[in-house]
Amino acid sequence: MNNDIAKVLYTDEQIQKRIGELADQLSEEYKDKNPLILCVLTGGVLFTVDLIKKMDIMAQMDFIDVSTYFGGTETTGELKLIHDMTADVKGRNVLITEDIVDSGRTLQYMIDLLKSRGAKSVKTVSMLNKPEGREFDVNVEYYGFLVPNEFLVGYGLDYKGYYRNLPYVGVLKPSVYSEK
Ligand code: IMP
Ligand code: MG
Repeated sequence: MNNDIAKVLYTDEQIQKRIGELADQLSEEYKDKNPLILCVLTGGVLFTVDLIKKMDIMAQMDFIDVSTYFGGTETTGELKLIHDMTADVKGRNVLITEDIVDSGRTLQYMIDLLKSRGAKSVKTVSMLNKPEGREFDVNVEYYGFLVPNEFLVGYGLDYKGYYRNLPYVGVLKPSVYSEK
């Protein structure tokens, strides 16, 4: 698996250090707000788990599966709500946790959905932020790292469902797209 990576952008160590900083900032911001941490499946899981373990506040956790990418390197533009969350968000302070914000389509959909369901506040923390990909005018209040407009894998990010378990974020070798 490691042989398919052209270069490493962020190591496990760098990621964990940055998550510690985000966790401190978010713990301060949300200390009396009893937030609902809403993890966007599947890519957001690794980041969310590491983040919440470092947040020393009362918080609840839920999951939603919204998908735009269907296994390739390009978004299809279509968006599907695959699994809805279980919590009632009415009056809640919701913190969305994402692996990466690219076009912003997923996030725009989530924000609209949560606001229409009566959430008191909706903010987002994304491990990675790819601003050059942006097509929707969404706010990413907190993020770990800014990344270039390249197709990345690891630390939750996948290519055809693989590479999510890499502990670092890297660029996939272009030969991998043509072979598989
Ligand atoms: P958006 O809706 O275009 O912002 O895309 C968000 C979703 O697309 C992310 O949550 C990822 O699942 C996926 N995605 C965007 N960029 C990449 C990438 O470079 N590698 C892997 N998945 C990506
Ligand atoms: Mg995602």
